Amino acid sequence: MDDITDRLQGSPEQARSGDRFVEGFAGYRKLQRRIASVARRGIAVPYFEPRDGVSGSTIHWHGRELINFSGYNYLSLSGHPEVSAAAKAAIDQYGTSASASRIVSGQISVHTELEECIASFLGTEDALVFVSGYLTNVTVISHLLSRPDAVIYDSAAHNSIITGGRLSGARVIEFEHGDFDGLDEVLRGSRNEFRRGLLVGEGVYSMDGTVLDLERALEIKNRHDLLLMIDEAHSIGTMGATGRGICEAAGVPASAVDVHMGTLSKTLAGCGGYIAGDRALIEYLRFLAPGFLFSVGLSPPDTAAALAAFKVLEREPERPQRLREKAKLFRKMAREYGLPIRGEEESPVASLVVGNGDTCLLLSQRLLEHGIHVQPIVYPAVAQDGARLRFFITLNHTEAQFKATIPVIAKEWERLPAATA
Ligand SMILES: Cc1ncc(COP(=O)(O)O)c(C=O)c1O
Repeated sequence: MDDITDRLQGSPEQARSGDRFVEGFAGYRKLQRRIASVARRGIAVPYFEPRDGVSGSTIHWHGRELINFSGYNYLSLSGHPEVSAAAKAAIDQYGTSASASRIVSGQISVHTELEECIASFLGTEDALVFVSGYLTNVTVISHLLSRPDAVIYDSAAHNSIITGGRLSGARVIEFEHGDFDGLDEVLRGSRNEFRRGLLVGEGVYSMDGTVLDLERALEIKNRHDLLLMIDEAHSIGTMGATGRGICEAAGVPASAVDVHMGTLSKTLAGCGGYIAGDRALIEYLRFLAPGFLFSVGLSPPDTAAALAAFKVLEREPERPQRLREKAKLFRKMAREYGLPIRGEEESPVASLVVGNGDTCLLLSQRLLEHGIHVQPIVYPAVAQDGARLRFFITLNHTEAQFKATIPVIAKEWERLPAATA
């Protein structure tokens, strides 16, 4: 190595230690301490465990069948024969990848069919699909807003919304979960300090299972001249008489909301995200949103799977109502056993807040020993003292499964170490 190279790249020894530069990160060291402390308590790290089979009301794990509350296959459409067949047929026709960004040669006819289907399902002028739900929020929020603007979101907002807001360079205003009165007050004092304001809500909040008060959100939007974006990751297919989401549930026309966002990964049995809204919004994003333009087109099987999922949903519009009955039943039975399950009655996301992270991991592990699979959600996904078990209720859960699991959960809940619960 000559002198200049030596100065630029460091010595061979430094380069070698540079290979592991992350080991010096405070965040990495904290993670290692956390894993070690959990292990000392005899708790196995429950993440990244491969399962087998379709994520339904049961899954297979290390050769055992478990009752599963950890998958958001809400309407049981992932694994539905029609959806799987459509994905396979798309692979036969187009291959497994779109093989280019859509603006160049990645466009295939099912992309257009899916977008037309989303727009007609929601009652908007147009729609656009992206390769990930997370990316959809990040790229769209950060592209629609900039420095003189404000992105306004609930304290329970999904990380993709927060990240989109931060990357936009706009001012960020966070308000207490569901506290529209508090937000109203903040905006009365600050609305003239920013140009455009985008209020972002979630149809069903992913960590608490609470349902957005759309009427209040619209009132705030109109009073303070804001744009309104709703993330329907957990409400598309689950809320509204026929699963059209939060507008249908509230009896509000789709045009009242400026930006409809959703994911294809939950009810819609694929992977990806969508934005729906007026023609100009979609055209603007189609030609200019970086996360759309500089990324590959949605894969043929994911596109076809989501399209087939919509077709099943349209043909069987009672599925969402049946799911909500299951969610109500789960909550009713859980309450009978004294479990303080969070979220609205009909919401498919049901959280049991434990508080302490290690205690939450312990509860999850004990339930696993009983054949119940429910994932612990700990910091930083939720606050340090907000660790919880998050139960996803799906259409193919049965009353018998609830009867088999809820008393066990209640018994293990009672046994938790009091000091840390
Ligand atoms: C509210 C919300 N928005 C966006 C996303 C990201 O969606 P995806 O997982 O499809 O990328 C999620 C994922 O869980 C979510 O809960």
